[in-house]
Amino acid sequence: MKRPLRLGVLGSGKGSNCRAIIEKIVGGQLDAEVRIVISDVENSGILKLAREFGVPGLYVRPGRFETRLEPENEEEIVRLLHEAEVELVVLAGFMRIVRQPLLSAFPRRMINIHPSLLPKFRGREAWKQALRAGERVTGCTVHYVDAAVDAGEILGQETVQIMPDDTPESLHARIQRSEHVLLPAVIAGIAEKLHRPK
Ligand code: GAR
Repeated sequence: MKRPLRLGVLGSGKGSNCRAIIEKIVGGQLDAEVRIVISDVENSGILKLAREFGVPGLYVRPGRFETRLEPENEEEIVRLLHEAEVELVVLAGFMRIVRQPLLSAFPRRMINIHPSLLPKFRGREAWKQALRAGERVTGCTVHYVDAAVDAGEILGQETVQIMPDDTPESLHARIQRSEHVLLPAVIAGIAEKLHRPK
């Protein structure tokens, strides 16, 4: 019998993508299980969400850097993910650059959702970059995580129209509605592939 794909979700923000994943699981549309949620932000929405759904939610101190974690804190994350027997790591609004040892602990087993049509607009607040550039269309991308930032192999993309009267907030909200469909769909595809009977 097929068993659900065991996920570990890392996030720094409100956790709406994590909610979308959990709601699809609860609704029987995604054959997966969120085994652990980890955040570098102690009072983040994503940790509150984990509590709401009875999923173990853990805060890991980021350390002294702004954009990445201390290697020993990454090590702690690897340990937690392994203990939870995670098969696929999902970065859902995790605002730190992933380095070693986390990268090599989950080769081609770590995905990220990014709010633009990569390779356009890497980095932070990509929806603002798209607005500033005068784009008419943007979107979101799910990709494998590797050493290059926001540049791993693309697994799925959704386009989103930019309206003439869009504000950064209205555009990000529209992109997020697409993210909430795309991310669970990509995870479902991976679950199908990984757990296909040999
Ligand atoms: C999402 O829009 C995600 O694409 C973005 O952070 C937001 C998290 O929202 N991630 C990045 O910008 C990563 N480069 P959420 O906490 O509501 O899921």
